Amino acid sequence: MDLIPAPRNAVPDGDGRRYAFGPRPALAVGPGAEGVARWLRRELGAATGWELPDAGSGARGDVRLTVDPERAGAGGPESYRLDIGEDGVELTGASAAGLFWGAQTLRQLLGPDAYRRAPLPGRTWSLPYAAVADAPRFEWRGMMLDIARHFLPKDGVLRYIDLLVAHKLNVLHLHLTDDQGWRIEIKRYPRLTETGAWRARSRWGHRASPLWNETPHGGFLSQDDVREIVAYAAERHVRVVPEIDVPGHSQAAIAAHPELGNTDVVDTAALEVWDDWGISENVLAPTEGVLRFYEGVFEELLELFPAEVSPFVHVGGDECPKAQWKASPAAQERIAELGVDGEDGLQSWFIRHFDRWLAERGRRLVGWDEILEGGAGAGARAAGSGDEVSAVGLGKGAVVSSWRGYAGGVAAAEAGHDVVMCPEQQVYLDHRQADGPDEPMPIGYVRTLEDVYRFEPVPPKLSPEAAAHVLGAQANVWTEVMENQSRVDYQVFPRLAAFAEVVWSTLPEPESRDRAGFETRMATHYARLDALGVEYRPPGGPLPWQRRPGVLGRPIEGEPPIV
Ligand code: ACM
Repeated sequence: MDLIPAPRNAVPDGDGRRYAFGPRPALAVGPGAEGVARWLRRELGAATGWELPDAGSGARGDVRLTVDPERAGAGGPESYRLDIGEDGVELTGASAAGLFWGAQTLRQLLGPDAYRRAPLPGRTWSLPYAAVADAPRFEWRGMMLDIARHFLPKDGVLRYIDLLVAHKLNVLHLHLTDDQGWRIEIKRYPRLTETGAWRARSRWGHRASPLWNETPHGGFLSQDDVREIVAYAAERHVRVVPEIDVPGHSQAAIAAHPELGNTDVVDTAALEVWDDWGISENVLAPTEGVLRFYEGVFEELLELFPAEVSPFVHVGGDECPKAQWKASPAAQERIAELGVDGEDGLQSWFIRHFDRWLAERGRRLVGWDEILEGGAGAGARAAGSGDEVSAVGLGKGAVVSSWRGYAGGVAAAEAGHDVVMCPEQQVYLDHRQADGPDEPMPIGYVRTLEDVYRFEPVPPKLSPEAAAHVLGAQANVWTEVMENQSRVDYQVFPRLAAFAEVVWSTLPEPESRDRAGFETRMATHYARLDALGVEYRPPGGPLPWQRRPGVLGRPIEGEPPIV
């Protein structure tokens, strides 16, 4: 049946029979299934020309949608059953989400043309008789999209939500701020986007490249754009995790508001939004004023991302250079005053402040694995917030995105924190997907489709208690070398299909996975991606217009490879 991700259990009909739809199929919609019916009418309706009217009382309907945890199977709230036979289609979800994932399977089974936006003339539709019982392995099946380095306008973000759900992925982590751009409207601080959302030019290629793209780059999501994205995602059972990166990766914010920087060591008024790649030395000053400023940002963020759909708020916390704090008398005074352990303790103080602040508002902080550092000693999270504090000085509800390999995730899980695995060595999709000179702006590790397929989110050494803290995994898409949607598509696909199979399908042991079957199923999946208009990397390598000849990546020729 060529399903991607592979279902837990699928029994095709031995005789190859098919259910043929007439020209006016009807839907029977049970309580709780209304959202999935809306989605089917919109998406399948566009591809087939069907109106999919309600079957009406007493009529069976060609497709019957039911939410029933008893009948959907034992795989948890996202499980579903799909039975196709002579009576049509019976789709049952343990929840509306389970039903929605079942609807994705139904669409895949209809064939690649079910992903088009208008019907092909004369096309008729049928489904193979089958019994599918399915459920995901992980509850956090995510992709991080960096819209800070290169902005992807609203339509592109909505399209990526559609692409995620077509692969049964359910978390979109949006990296909204960085040194090179601030991409979300904050009403009380309009300069964050007036100044912070554009830069005069961009490095063209890796930062070792001598080339510049002299076209100014910019853009941001208005608050209504964000509300639309969040609602669109929620209707599709996708959780959006917003990230505002502090205290590093903040040069765009400092360019807009020079008072946020370390004004005693740099002339922050002269700073601009960064036009280069890498890690800027210009980090936030560790002052009460900066905390209050960012509380204002987060207050607006919490209003835009309601707790029911976005309980998690990412505060970054990665790659914060300490040189300015070392040189700054004000920062040094702060270290003494707070009694924290040097500059690392200062960074931890920053994160712990927002951990407590978010927890008091019913949210859970997420941070890159650097948030584990510097917080266990003096000045560990202040008592009085009421909730339990772990050995690393964070509230037990804090979640760690483990990106520098597995080690951070292992330490966090053992300290009782939930973890999302996204090791750069495995699932950073900005990294090149083949060796050789043809890959566009090739950076980082060579990570092929097959490498991603072999990724295992749960490290084998974890105790069962710690392993239960691995919520799942996400693929991260940093966009320094992806200047537009086509480049993003090229880096993300087809590898996201392999990633989806890792986090949805149920075989933890990479060696026991259906690798050969995946390759066969990919042949059909490429046709789905074609119908969706995805500009993936073809199996034979980039098409001529997908190459970027002469634009330097890293490592460059003559340097040792990254392994
Ligand atoms: C990261 O890649 N700096 C999280």
